[in-house]
Amino acid sequence: MDSIIVTGNGPLQGEIPIAGAKNACLALMPATLLSDAPLTLTNAPRLSDIRTMTALLESLGAEVAPLQDGQVLALSSHALDNHTADYEIVRKMRASILVLGPMLARDGHAVVSLPGGCAIGARPVDLHLRALEALGAELDLRDGYVHARAPGGLKGAVIEFPMVSVGATENALMAATLARGTTVLKNAAREPEIADLARCLRAMGAQIEGEGTDTIIIEGVQALGGATHPVVADRIELGTYMLAPAIAGGEVECLGGRMELVQAFVDTLRDTGVEVEETPRGLRVRRGDGARVRATDVATAPFPGFPTDLQAQFMALMCTADGVSHLEERIFENRFMHAPELTRMGARIEVHGGTATVTGVERLRGAPVMATDLRASVSLILAALAAEGETVLNRVYHLDRGYERVEEKLGACGARIERVKG
Ligand code: UD1
Repeated sequence: MDSIIVTGNGPLQGEIPIAGAKNACLALMPATLLSDAPLTLTNAPRLSDIRTMTALLESLGAEVAPLQDGQVLALSSHALDNHTADYEIVRKMRASILVLGPMLARDGHAVVSLPGGCAIGARPVDLHLRALEALGAELDLRDGYVHARAPGGLKGAVIEFPMVSVGATENALMAATLARGTTVLKNAAREPEIADLARCLRAMGAQIEGEGTDTIIIEGVQALGGATHPVVADRIELGTYMLAPAIAGGEVECLGGRMELVQAFVDTLRDTGVEVEETPRGLRVRRGDGARVRATDVATAPFPGFPTDLQAQFMALMCTADGVSHLEERIFENRFMHAPELTRMGARIEVHGGTATVTGVERLRGAPVMATDLRASVSLILAALAAEGETVLNRVYHLDRGYERVEEKLGACGARIERVKG
């Protein structure tokens, strides 16, 4: 298994290109299942999660051709010949459940294994299933699989989600595009990835209004066509790399970054004393030499709030802040697995329930650490940039699920980081 070795060596200087969003792409790819016509996604990120979704779609009979080194995905579901998403693939990634709504909507039946993914709490799929039932699906849970049928097709409905769920909103949105009549999704997720999916579906011929707000209205159509769609920039990769100069010092411009994708995060970062400015090419982040950042409290929330997917990385910054900060995790229980690993590097963190209290220290020190999930792993790399000595990060496969070419991107800004093949 590969490991990554980071030796903290002071301020960073340079630019980092931001890739297309993993989470958007994972929702856009299953949209191919809604149509016979080709779907082309540009600005796709090159990640192992994307390869997992590729394998899943191919197992259903869809074609997925990675072009231009994987930055373009040419998809087609004209010859779909299997409607069972097998446990062996689905268990690797929770987003696999997103094939359920589209397959059911187009062909009236689907069997999908219950998903796996990062071990960050219970993460059930009840909201996905309830939404599809509201659209008229008959569901049967047997042997770890959801057996779904809609013999007469799906029917539009008013669906009010009891809590905000990104995935359930995406599944329901895709399914509703081919349902008869009008569907209204209330308390829908407002994440930029939802708006991106709606834009793509609209390009395929769907009738959708209100994406980006908490009420999305979909008028079902008979069939969808093909489209070419650019994947929105990855706001989590963006926030992660914005934290690199915040932690190590220096100045980095994140190319393709847009303020509206990360406004709440930027507000918090500015509160810590880090400078952020918009440039014609993206967002530039700067922290002057010597100045420690201020301890700042954070509570995660659905978009437009502070993203849970940046909580671990922000904790890495707070580890060397001046003062005590409280980080409250409100989306996923059990999402503090990075805390004990950061502690191995000299951080002072106490976790009580859903809140971590971090007392900043002057300096972290390198240590052997273990990546426990995707965002946790990158938080350890960020911390290592500011640590004295060498940090060895093991179990890098989590990192490869969500970050392409981390070593290259940080290395280009002067970080000492290398991958050791194992
Ligand atoms: C997506 C993102 C993930 C991010 C999360 C929250 C993808 C591929 N992943 O995950 O990176 O951390 O949004 O921003 O886009 N819940 C239920 N029942 C359900 C569904 C969700 O109880 O049927 C709960 C979850 O356990 C969690 C909360 O709802 O506590 C939010 O989860 P959700 O927004 O659905 O996250 P995902 O779509 O899985």
